[in-house]
Amino acid sequence: MSLKEQIVAEKLPRHIAVIMDGNGRWAKQKGKLRVFGHKSGVASVRETVEACAELGVENLTLYAFSTENWNRPKFEIDALMELLVITINKEIKTLKKNDIRLLAIGNLGALPKRCNSELQSAIEKTKTHKRMNLILALSYSSRWEITQAMKNIAEEIQRKTLKAEDITEELISSYLTTSQIPDPELLIRTSGEHRISNFMLWQMAYAELYFTPKLWPDFRKEDLYAAILDFQQRERRFGKISEQIKA
Ligand code: FPP
Repeated sequence: MSLKEQIVAEKLPRHIAVIMDGNGRWAKQKGKLRVFGHKSGVASVRETVEACAELGVENLTLYAFSTENWNRPKFEIDALMELLVITINKEIKTLKKNDIRLLAIGNLGALPKRCNSELQSAIEKTKTHKRMNLILALSYSSRWEITQAMKNIAEEIQRKTLKAEDITEELISSYLTTSQIPDPELLIRTSGEHRISNFMLWQMAYAELYFTPKLWPDFRKEDLYAAILDFQQRERRFGKISEQIKA
């Protein structure tokens, strides 16, 4: 049986989050510029989106640019932003055809104007799509997001529209950029790094973590299937004991 055929549809993660890592190293191994790695990574984005939609995954989040990535050389940042605009424009037809809704989380106001406006236009054009949410994390970091949420909650308390005793886990979740999306159940990180790197720290509380040595531009559908199968073989106990889960 192929890897895809072994996947149990009823046990699919509702939300898969991916830290796409290793583009720079992939390019370096080939004696090319880092930007070549990012460009090549777009094929892996396409494969992953397509595979998730085919399987019936409801939400896919791709960590495309972190708050910390603003510290990279200007040349690389400009190239990544350009690539983002080109890719969004190129793929919008495919998103429409496949009923995929594009969403974005992060400090989007920090993106170059053109990049943000193209992004907003694609989000608007796909807003009625139902098959899958494709969420791009752009200029995103979890500590930034949590800080924003805390500020907003504090302001509400100051205005007396909220009381301290109203603060619950659900309330905090509702102030995050992911308020409309279920928490990721599976996190995949490529390139052999075993870190979360400031990504969805609150939302990842119970996520299963899957690390692969593959560099992002080499990541293909079969790699996604392997990650999902690994996820399906795990026992998710949420603090309970094995016997309780089985009962
Ligand atoms: C990490 O590799 C990758 C990124 C910072 C950018 C990912 C972007 C893409 C795959 C292209 C476009 C994406 C979309 C959604 C349109 P790295 O540069 O950190 O690699 P390294 O760790 O080997 O240096």
